[in-house]
Amino acid sequence: MAAGEWWRHGVVYQIYPRSFADGNGDGIGDLPGITSRLDHLNDGTPDSLGVDAIWLSPFYPSPMADFGYDIADYTGVHPDFGTLDDFDRLVAEAHARGIRVLVDLVPNHTSDQHPWFLESRSARDSPKRDWYVWADPKPDGSPPNNWMSTFPSAGRAWTFDEATGQWYLHSFMREQPDLNWWDPEVRAAMDDVMRFWLDRGVDGFRIDVAHKMARDPELRDNPLVELGEGELSATELEARLAGQQRFDQNWPEVHEILRRFRRTLEQYDDRMAVGEVYLLDLATLAGYYGQGVDELHLVHNFVFVRQPWKAEAFRQTVDELWSLLPPGAWPAWFLSNHDHSRVATRYDEGGNGQARARVAAMMVLTLRGTPFLYQGEELGMADSEIPADRVIDIDGRDAERTPMQWDGSPGAGFTSGDPWLPIPGSAREVNVAAQREDPGSMLSLYRRLLWYRRGSAALRQGGYRSLTDTPGGLYAYLRTEGDERLLVALNFTGRPLRYDVGALAPAGRLELSTHPDRLPGGQVGLGPLEVGPDEGLVIRLP
Ligand code: GLC
Ligand code: CA
Repeated sequence: MAAGEWWRHGVVYQIYPRSFADGNGDGIGDLPGITSRLDHLNDGTPDSLGVDAIWLSPFYPSPMADFGYDIADYTGVHPDFGTLDDFDRLVAEAHARGIRVLVDLVPNHTSDQHPWFLESRSARDSPKRDWYVWADPKPDGSPPNNWMSTFPSAGRAWTFDEATGQWYLHSFMREQPDLNWWDPEVRAAMDDVMRFWLDRGVDGFRIDVAHKMARDPELRDNPLVELGEGELSATELEARLAGQQRFDQNWPEVHEILRRFRRTLEQYDDRMAVGEVYLLDLATLAGYYGQGVDELHLVHNFVFVRQPWKAEAFRQTVDELWSLLPPGAWPAWFLSNHDHSRVATRYDEGGNGQARARVAAMMVLTLRGTPFLYQGEELGMADSEIPADRVIDIDGRDAERTPMQWDGSPGAGFTSGDPWLPIPGSAREVNVAAQREDPGSMLSLYRRLLWYRRGSAALRQGGYRSLTDTPGGLYAYLRTEGDERLLVALNFTGRPLRYDVGALAPAGRLELSTHPDRLPGGQVGLGPLEVGPDEGLVIRLP
């Protein structure tokens, strides 16, 4: 493995800047706040979490219609988050701790307040008219086609502009007009944005909705889906259409755009891109690495995120993806981000959410690939209850975006002021300060997993083979490198399971258990191996 390929073995931690740490007491997280909390992420010792990189969700100037994913200036910092100097300081302090920095690149759309769009909408003959997707109404005055916004409550993907008599496309909110990637000037402008941040020292990009940039130039209708009762969420729509030809995304030209991004990155040392590719077909997803691995370095896999809590479902998804990846491609594994219900809530069934979240942590951190964690996941944070009058996101995602819980004080150590989203009462117990001291806490489990992984070549880069003779509900796999052989066994049921792996070895050494009271170190028999209810184990084979 090339030494430069840090992104193949590191662990990436996603920061949602608005909710991580508020440095000036205005209730909104900011860049100086992040800098002040870097030691939690990695201070070089196992007292810290031990991540290798952070990915920062957008902190750019924005009207905040979509909390920063509507960008009005790609090369600045929103005053709520600080200044470019604050950004430079954050990068320097992160690098000093060996933490790489990824920033969010949002190339599919801008804010409707971006000067590019203001110019584009000013007149039909504006030199930037073609930078966005404008189309005439149908003869009866209706929108150009049947495309819908990804956000159900935003309705159609088209908004009519009275002044110039045309519709513009927005795959998300009407405040987020889509750029027209068929225009070479748009491509050149985004190259400049990338270079701006690369020159400032960022280690790469997370590319927002990477699959959306290219669409049918003829703007043909999507195949119709039976909508049934009520609105169909974007996720369900994608699930129903998976594998079908859609005209509003995943157009073949997207691969040329991604190859162009890759060429820009390769003019620098050691930089990378991870794409958000919300396509629910694994073969299509694998195509985003490119034929010669010349597109994205890593691809976020939402098929994995959407699996039910079933051992067989996860095993199948992982094995299938591996069978489809082109040679040299490397997967990324994650279960949480700022758009999805948190694991501790999503997989909870009658109060086992925490136990399952611990098993999920072990899976993400021991599979072959690059793990991505989302802030608060290391505390087992659940979705927060948001009182009706505090709901502010268009797509109901506030519950997974409430402030990071640093301590048990009223502002949770996040802010000395009024937090922009409410802090749940549970923060009094569920917080970094309390969990740091408790060896049985979720945070202690995450620290052990990350630092163990750092010391294990088998986990970082070794081979992976799933075992198929397991009892129902058990996902077990081997990770091996040289003579280091690890067996990972994850019990997805609430019952104890027995699995005879005596053929591998009569006994092994218990390296890690997700059960808070089961201490590592002892010998465990393998003929049979006993795995407790909702328990995950890492066992070293002789
Ligand atoms: C991505 C982001 C999400 C945002 C959307 C539009 O899916 O993760 O938060 O709303 O793109 O930019
Ligand atoms: Ca602030």
